[in-house]
Amino acid sequence: MKSGLNQFLSLLLLLIPALLRAQTAVIPVETKDHVLLLQEDQQERIRTTYFGSAFTNQSDYQSVASQFHYDDANDGIYNAAYTPSGTWSLTEPAIEVKHADGNSSLELKYQSHTQQKQNDASTETRIVLKDPNYNFQVTLVYKAWAEENVIEQWTEIQHKENGAVMLEKYASADLYFTGDNFYLTSYHGRWAKEMQGKEEKLENGRKIIDSKLGTRAMLLQSPNFILSFDQPASENEGKVILGQLAWSGNFKLDFEVDTYDNLKFLAGINPYNSAYALPANQVFKTPSLIYAISNHGTGEASRGLHRWARKYRVLDGQGERLTLLNNWEATYFDFDEDKITGLFKDAKELGVDMFLLDDGWFANKYPRNSDRSGLGDWQENVKKLPSGIGHLVKEATKEGIKFGIWIEPEMVNPKSELYEQHLDWVIRQPDRPEVYYRNQLVLDLSNPEVQDFVFGVVDKLFTENPQLAFIKWDCNAVIYNAYSVYLAEQEMPQSQLYVDYVKGLYAVLERVRTKYPKVPIMLCSGGGGRGDYEALKYFTEFWPSDDTDPLERIFMQWDYSYFFPSIVTCNHVTDWGKQPIKFRVDVASMGKLGFDIVFSHLSEDEKVFCKQAVKNYDRFKEIIWHGDQYRLVNPHENDFSAVMYVNESKEKAVFFGYFISQRQRLITDKEPIKFNGLNPEKLYTIKEINLFPGKRSPLDSEKVYSGDFLMKAGYNPMINAGRTSVVLEIEERK
Ligand code: GLA
Repeated sequence: MKSGLNQFLSLLLLLIPALLRAQTAVIPVETKDHVLLLQEDQQERIRTTYFGSAFTNQSDYQSVASQFHYDDANDGIYNAAYTPSGTWSLTEPAIEVKHADGNSSLELKYQSHTQQKQNDASTETRIVLKDPNYNFQVTLVYKAWAEENVIEQWTEIQHKENGAVMLEKYASADLYFTGDNFYLTSYHGRWAKEMQGKEEKLENGRKIIDSKLGTRAMLLQSPNFILSFDQPASENEGKVILGQLAWSGNFKLDFEVDTYDNLKFLAGINPYNSAYALPANQVFKTPSLIYAISNHGTGEASRGLHRWARKYRVLDGQGERLTLLNNWEATYFDFDEDKITGLFKDAKELGVDMFLLDDGWFANKYPRNSDRSGLGDWQENVKKLPSGIGHLVKEATKEGIKFGIWIEPEMVNPKSELYEQHLDWVIRQPDRPEVYYRNQLVLDLSNPEVQDFVFGVVDKLFTENPQLAFIKWDCNAVIYNAYSVYLAEQEMPQSQLYVDYVKGLYAVLERVRTKYPKVPIMLCSGGGGRGDYEALKYFTEFWPSDDTDPLERIFMQWDYSYFFPSIVTCNHVTDWGKQPIKFRVDVASMGKLGFDIVFSHLSEDEKVFCKQAVKNYDRFKEIIWHGDQYRLVNPHENDFSAVMYVNESKEKAVFFGYFISQRQRLITDKEPIKFNGLNPEKLYTIKEINLFPGKRSPLDSEKVYSGDFLMKAGYNPMINAGRTSVVLEIEERK
């Protein structure tokens, strides 16, 4: 009898895990309107079973998996939440490793998960997967911001094997979308032609967007993408996700329409020459894939992403920014102390907050009088600036403006003292000819000594000039001949260089921000070669392109605006293009306004216009920086373009409209433009501003319109060949 009971109890004990396992894990990653549903299958693997509108009843999540029958054979399993390689899956893996014993197989089984609310209004889901044969684990992490419908996901890889495990591929995300038609908008570019978007319907097979440039990674292809479901992406309707791999180095986005016509999407660091030796007990954290989801088109998705970026990501995203006058295009390398202090007066008269001294202020043995020499030697050039930076800061302060400065601390010209003294700090193949990009090479940021040097460049400037108000941090070269003396000395694989470079960069930025938490720093990369949400944790803004032709900018700013709020995009008025100054200033006002012109060369009327426009900007900038953006008329599809910004209470808005047709005579202002984002019940007046001296607006600023009317019938701002750019201030009439 006793032994019978014992037998029963031990059978029960044996059965408990099996009984528990009968209830497989169901893990919804939820935002306000959407859910990414992850479920454990009978083999204890986690699958993505649903991505779409959130369910009313949580209990229904359990039933989703049984509705799909994709597993006709093992090669048909595409929807693993993180596909391992070398075992049961023959689809494109998310992760490939070589264990410490040289074996290349990996299985990842569900162990446990947690879901916890965080202080930043997100909920963090952590799912632990383990290999039953090796002491190797991957944690899938999802942070979901309900209100903004934004998800950030990454993975954390660690092990306790006997020696290092070689990570050969380590994606950040492995997503799976069921459906019939998928449309991808990806972005391509080159210098001064960044962010050129193209939409295509994805067909069976793989489409890859990647970068192998090391630094300046966004130059040719961009880690930003729009995925639209069932129909091409549109602004106000349809299911879209709009996102980015947040990593300032080599990335890879891999879209595959599979044999079921579903879409598998892998995103992560580019495995190209990037195998990483992970020692036991250390965590390798992949970069984040960040995406906003909407069932109402790209407009709503962008606004969610913008709000998220301002609130939770970009440094001081809810703060203020400085308008400025920059001397780059005004002087290039040809300046001295008097010329610069003379420009302070222009900045003062123009009414901007700050003067920004660009490239060319440093190096003595090999003076920085062109881009051929001096990079790396960060001492004031005594001929150009005999009284030093301190003097300039003082003079600017006397004028009542702030002072900012340009640096490019990650780079070196071979014609420099730095190169002569520290050849081992330079990324180059020791036995091959050097390959230059803009006559320069990249410093090896995997080396802690180089990190100290780069931090020192910034630290010295701020220590010696505590009133320094701004830095423009440039990065103009890509990495050729990837080889690190430091990694060789440490006996670490050379294939870690691309990753350790970026990690080294972030380590420096972390130090900069620990010591100087708030000072605004602009991220620049020979135009728009860098600008991602990992870097923007440390930067307040970025430079989207050296192309400042306002006509081109209408397109480029439009395309950047899918992913970035206007507060982070620096737009400068320059002499590029053929447009009148009003057009140039209006376009640059749709972001963080700056000038890079010789103010004294303008006519009196132009000066009056600019000064008034800066005053107007100071009045409405709050709406541009912190309000919601509505893209109204797409320049890619029309002879016009229009964008508006609305403040949170919907009491105030600013509208920008442009005439961009090349066939001017045929186009008239025959139709109204439908506004968006207003309160239908509020009444508004509309006043044209930024008028050139002597011009009168044909628009009636006294007339009152309901928000309902302005959004349904629209409003005709009379944009035409004679009025190519129109700025309107819209205000609630109380
Ligand atoms: C890059 C930047 C420019 C300017 C120059 C200076 O090209 O994009 O704005 O700062 O460097 O050399």
